Amino acid sequence: MIEIQDLTKTHYRGETEVRALRGVTCRIPKGSFTFIFGPSGSGKSTLLYLMGALDNPTSGAVSVNGRNLAELSARDRDEYRRGDVGFVFQSFNLLKNLDAVGNVLVPFMPKGISPDMRQRAVELLKHVGLGNRLDHRPNQLSGGEQQRVAIARALLKNPALVLADEPTGELDSETGAEVFGYLRRLHVEQQTTVVVVSHDDRYVTDGDRVLELQDGQLRNGEAGGTERNED
Ligand SMILES: Nc1ncnc2c1ncn2[C@@H]1O[C@H](COP(=O)(O)OP(=O)(O)OP(=O)(O)O)[C@@H](O)[C@H]1O
Ligand SMILES: [Mg+2]
Repeated sequence: MIEIQDLTKTHYRGETEVRALRGVTCRIPKGSFTFIFGPSGSGKSTLLYLMGALDNPTSGAVSVNGRNLAELSARDRDEYRRGDVGFVFQSFNLLKNLDAVGNVLVPFMPKGISPDMRQRAVELLKHVGLGNRLDHRPNQLSGGEQQRVAIARALLKNPALVLADEPTGELDSETGAEVFGYLRRLHVEQQTTVVVVSHDDRYVTDGDRVLELQDGQLRNGEAGGTERNED
């Protein structure tokens, strides 16, 4: 469970101040599927990065399972980022000189890759339908395929939490639906908590949570968003 308490983030650039988040309070229950919507510049990525401990808040707190991320030791923070969270970004962030298997294994390279781990990377790539693309490099893959490599990479560590920042932003709608299909499956099969920034509300289904940001604040109240139910 993630608890976000009166979170603010101000970016400073020379003389100018940008108040990217202006007091956001909400909770994201364990095992939920949450969408973050909002116009460009409303603070969506900033909020996601703070949840992933990729950045520090200006004030307020993000607590995960009762631990304030800003108060973790450098080591615990690193462990959280590396072990607990799977990140999926809009631009895939793949390394062009590595094939699909290599790109899945990248986060683990500093510690060394065991044959077991390589095998698991291959299994994950098969799971996302890329069993016949294992030795392809990013420029030999379609956008959707590259994003699926990035998803396999995020899943290698069995993360409790997946944070996805416009994972379908660069994809056509068919491939986008495919990518959401994988995120959804992960959520259903492994009860992974998924938080996804998106511009597209077509992928929202029954029981999902929706947070709407505008000018760094939540539009739909402080209670933690609304659950959408089709009726
Ligand atoms: N490192 C930074 N330095 C200065 N300003 C920043 C920085 N990062 C973000 N901002 C500003 O903070 C505001 C919120 O940015 P953020 O990236 O969170 O928006 P967003 O909702 O993700 O937008 P988009 O949909 O375009 O990705 C924007 O006005 C942006 O220009
Ligand atoms: Mg963004």
